Formats: sequence, structure tokens, C-alpha cells
Amino acid sequence: MLEWQIDLGATEAIGEVPVNRYEEPAQKPKPKTPAPEAPVAMQPLQVDFSQVARAAAGAAQDLDALQAAMAGFEHCELKKGARNLVFADGNPEARVMIVGEAPGVEEDRQGKPFVGAAGQLLDAMFAAIDHGRDHADNPVYITNILPWRPPQNRDPKPDEIAMMLPFVERHIELVNPEVLVLMGNISCSAILGQKGITKLRGNWMEALGKPVLPMFHPAYLLRMPSAKREAWADLLSLQARLRG
Ligand code: URA
Repeated sequence: MLEWQIDLGATEAIGEVPVNRYEEPAQKPKPKTPAPEAPVAMQPLQVDFSQVARAAAGAAQDLDALQAAMAGFEHCELKKGARNLVFADGNPEARVMIVGEAPGVEEDRQGKPFVGAAGQLLDAMFAAIDHGRDHADNPVYITNILPWRPPQNRDPKPDEIAMMLPFVERHIELVNPEVLVLMGNISCSAILGQKGITKLRGNWMEALGKPVLPMFHPAYLLRMPSAKREAWADLLSLQARLRG
């Protein structure tokens, strides 16, 4: 149609009569009774993905099944930007389970928790009380609140934590450690519902039916070496507890 008009010599796209574009559109008269065939307005379906996660986590009867369930969970945006699922490291028979925050760049690359600079410090800290992820007699087991690296190592968002928390809780239930060590504010707020690591650290608490020891995160200790003194006191408290 347009080509035909151009062939006829039309050079400007203007109408025959001016259009007032500020004018209110004329109201259509409302039908007195709704047409019987009028479609019912559909409400968008609200899905609580933490419930989806809870069902998937609850169905996992062992750690391999839990890892597979997490790998197949498609509702957390972080998964799209991550190279690997970071599930756990160490010995699931350990008496001590350490819960960190989220993988960083090196953890994302290797698919293992705490293998970057903070992880090296974590290993040194536990070696100082004769524990380690590969220790024959005194092993530890390590995981994180989030299994996928947040972009640019930003803090995990509350909805990401809430969505993945059922997996962490099931993880703890399946490993069934004697004590939990929570590294830093993110894992304390997720597991204990409390923030303020400076006040929390070193105070034994209880969560998920386990004794819990909040500690400074090793990444914080790298930035604030003067806080290693408190971390050492907390490690000694852990050691005393394990010795009964
Ligand atoms: N920091 C964490 O909290 N977890 C890791 O796995 C690495 C760094």
C-alpha cells in the first residue's frame, strides 16, 4: 500500500485531517452485563521456590542425592553465572561441620569450598588445633550457605539465601555433625537468624539441634589481622568442646 502511494507521488506521511494527540480517547460504553464468553482474568502464578527447594532437599536420602538435587535446581539466578556447583569438601564423617558464605572465583573454578586465599587461612586455622579436611583422625567437613558464586563476589541477597537454605539445612541433617562452626555474618544470619558477628563470635549457641560456634570469617581476618587473636580463642574453645 505504501509503495503504491509512493508511486503515485506521495512524499509526506500526513493525514487528511489533523489529529489532536492530547485528546482523551472516547470512552467506550460499558456493556450492562458482561458477555458470557468474556475470558476470566488469569492471576500470575506465585511460586515459592524455597518450598520447591524444601521438597527437593527433603527427598534426598544421602549426600550424593542432595548434590544431584542442588545441581538440578533451576530457580536460583546465581546458577546461570556460575561455572560449577560448589557442594562440599572434607570428610562427611567429621565431628565438625564448617559453614561459610558463598564461593569466590577460585572456588567457582575448582568446584570446592574455601580453596582461595581465605580457604588457605581456614586450613591453617584448623591445622593449629590439629584438624583438617583430609586429616586422618580429626577431619572437618566444609560447605557454604550458597553453592554458586555471586557475580563479582557481591553479598548474597536475602531471597537467594532463603531459597537455598532448605538445602543447607538438609545438608546439616544428613552429615549430622557434633558441632557446627559458622563463618561470618551471612552464615550466622542464615542459620541463627542473627547478625553482628563481633558480638556473636565465641558464644556457643544452638541451632538445628546442634551446638553452634560463630566465628570471624577468614576473609575478614585477612583484612583485619588484629582479630586473629579472637579467632584463636574461638578455636581453643572448639578444641576444648571436642575434647569434652
Ligand atoms: N568464602 C566463603 O565463605 N566460602 C568459600 O567457599 C570461599 C570463600
